[in-house]
Amino acid sequence: MAKTLSDLRDRTEPGTNLLEINDWAASMIRIAGARSCYVDYTPSFGRGPFGKVICTSVNEAVLHGLPHDYVLMDGDLLTLDFAASVNGWVTDSAISFVVGDSSAPGDQHMIETTEKALLAGIHAAQPGARIGDISHAIGSVLESARFRVNSEFGGHGVGSTMHQDPHIPNIGTPGRGYVLRPGLLLAIEPWIMDGTSKLVTAPDGWTLRSSNGRRTAHSEHTIAVTESGPVILTQLV
Ligand code: MF3
Ligand code: CO
Repeated sequence: MAKTLSDLRDRTEPGTNLLEINDWAASMIRIAGARSCYVDYTPSFGRGPFGKVICTSVNEAVLHGLPHDYVLMDGDLLTLDFAASVNGWVTDSAISFVVGDSSAPGDQHMIETTEKALLAGIHAAQPGARIGDISHAIGSVLESARFRVNSEFGGHGVGSTMHQDPHIPNIGTPGRGYVLRPGLLLAIEPWIMDGTSKLVTAPDGWTLRSSNGRRTAHSEHTIAVTESGPVILTQLV
């Protein structure tokens, strides 16, 4: 999982087509003996089976970006997000990065804010803590960086399927919600949009964009809650 995302990031450059990234991801998933959780996925928030193995969300697209015939340009802000299962167990992870060399400072700041919020959320996922503690930790980082938080889409339980209870909003009240027990697998995923918390759905029926057309960022890891604290399952070791 982690190796696939970092290899895809390394191979992506100005001139790369989003459809190529999907093809690369499909063959990496196959070679790893894993199965895509996306290709047949037909949730209520999308139109029909997703049909691809990875979400490629560019610039104002933030979540569920359906790969299409688009050639990346220097300075595009790209999010790659995918989930796959190995031996029946799912992991789900996302990274955002700027393609090429000309990166606007605001873009790096957005990316770093979601990464910082992700680490804060993970740190809050101690055994005996509650979902609200994770949400609060994430929301505090996002809000102190002056981003408005959308609570429609967030983290989630993971297991033999990609999306399970509990839902983990990216903002919340400490001490509230489901108690975290050792053995629980969670995907934690802060995401932000510059100057809005409102999403619009693209005509493809999947891709979610910022309502003001400004840039976005998203970072996600799957973790296990253990007796001795959270363990990140989707990080290069
Ligand atoms: N991996 C996404 C999430 O982080 C879900 C993508 S669903 C898809 O929860 F259908 F768009 F692939
Ligand atoms: Co997820």
